[in-house]
Amino acid sequence: PVKVQKIVCIGAGYVGGPTCAVIAQKCPDIVVTIVDLNEARINAWNDEEYRLPIYEPGLVDVVRSCRGKNLFFSTDVDKGIQEADLIFVSVNTPTKKSGVGAGFAADLNYVELATRRIAAVATSNKIVVEKSTVPCRTAESMRTILEANAKPNCRFDILSNPEFLAEGTAINDLHKPDRVLIGSLQSAEGLDACQALSSVYAHWVPRERILTVGLWSSELSKLAANAMLAQRISSINALSAICEATGANIDEVANAVGYDSRIGPKFLKASVGFGGSCFQKDILNLVYLSESLHLPEIATYWRQVVEMNEHQKSRFAKRVVDTLFNTITNKRITVLGFAFKADTGDTRESAAITLIRDFMKEKANISLYDPQVEEAQIWQDLAEASPNLSLENIKKQVKICSSSLEACKDAEAVVIATEWKEFKQIDWEMVYQGMNKPAFVFDGRLLVDEDKLTKIGFKVITIGRGSL
Ligand code: NAI
Repeated sequence: PVKVQKIVCIGAGYVGGPTCAVIAQKCPDIVVTIVDLNEARINAWNDEEYRLPIYEPGLVDVVRSCRGKNLFFSTDVDKGIQEADLIFVSVNTPTKKSGVGAGFAADLNYVELATRRIAAVATSNKIVVEKSTVPCRTAESMRTILEANAKPNCRFDILSNPEFLAEGTAINDLHKPDRVLIGSLQSAEGLDACQALSSVYAHWVPRERILTVGLWSSELSKLAANAMLAQRISSINALSAICEATGANIDEVANAVGYDSRIGPKFLKASVGFGGSCFQKDILNLVYLSESLHLPEIATYWRQVVEMNEHQKSRFAKRVVDTLFNTITNKRITVLGFAFKADTGDTRESAAITLIRDFMKEKANISLYDPQVEEAQIWQDLAEASPNLSLENIKKQVKICSSSLEACKDAEAVVIATEWKEFKQIDWEMVYQGMNKPAFVFDGRLLVDEDKLTKIGFKVITIGRGSL
């Protein structure tokens, strides 16, 4: 197998950036260049003060340790491709917004454009690695495009190497992955390419955690992992509704269930619903794949995981309205947290967006605080969620605050939407002083100490627990 000396990563986003920065950190003998068409993003990766384009604990230290040595960020995609012997394709694959499969299928336009670029400018053999999450058999399309457009002496070997990192813990996940998965054709050339990429990861990942499989299994495993993770959350959230109606407590149920070694304790926390750019997109992708394969029952099964998640969000918003005496018109509602989960600034598909949209429909006034998300991002997300409202009108209803305390002032109710650690340290006595009475706290993340808040005087409503 070739010894990989130069890597280029196309796409400097949440996946390409951290993944290839860690490869550079762990492989001082390999030169890693991360390229992107988005100049602002590349400039931020090159920022002198290390104000990087994405927030991820520990990421700055990794970039600091190797940027300018064997890690480079550039907008020169063509040069990156020409110099590399291994190319990661880590571009976005959002859900299609129009055309065939709209609302379900993955939009593979970015993958295809990147692939065509590789074919157009490469002048030597390349190992091309699909890092983006893609539907099963995308590698086949990539190979067809590459081979049809290749220069005479260029060979392309295609690998699938899906990324399993979770935002918020990306660096830790990359340093100590549960597994690295590499899919290849089972031909001699395919297996050689697979060995070349394995040797990169073997710089720091134990060999027994590097799994090598066929291309299609690798592609499908990524969709399968996300579908099963999301299904666990939808299952516990479905049970949370039963808890609320019966007086059972979802934390106690999850704990009891999780003690079963076949089930295990992780990822069993009820919440206001999952968000993030991946779970919903990847399940819908699986639904579309099932339908295209004429497997309608399978499609229905997986679609229900997403429907349950939508139900959980609207159920929670309705509970807020019901509890506040069936109207929140002109009432001030505080929303704490806007990111889709703690320790990230990412807001894609965040439950907070849906909640705020629903509260706006009820004509409430909203005060909002998040420790990481930029103001411009919040306005963009809220405007997209309510296309019939002008930004000017949205700004009349929503106020962005710079602390929890400020956001809670004069509110009727506080809604916890993201599990940021700093929300555990809120001075609830102070918050209580500043709020209208009765003062309600709606805990969408099982985060507050219900007894303590009740003693202060709050009326606390928690996901998966019966009402007062
Ligand atoms: P992202 O949107 O943050 O980054 C993608 C980047 O690719 C953008 O900066 C875009 O400008 C760039 N790009 C698109 N086309 C290009 C081209 N032709 N040439 C150069 N640059 C180009 O997306 P993110 O979150 O990094 O996701 C990338 C892929 O990884 C997706 O398929 C996603 O499903 C998958 N994934 C995401 C995870 C996450 O936690 N965000 C986790 C695991 C997989």
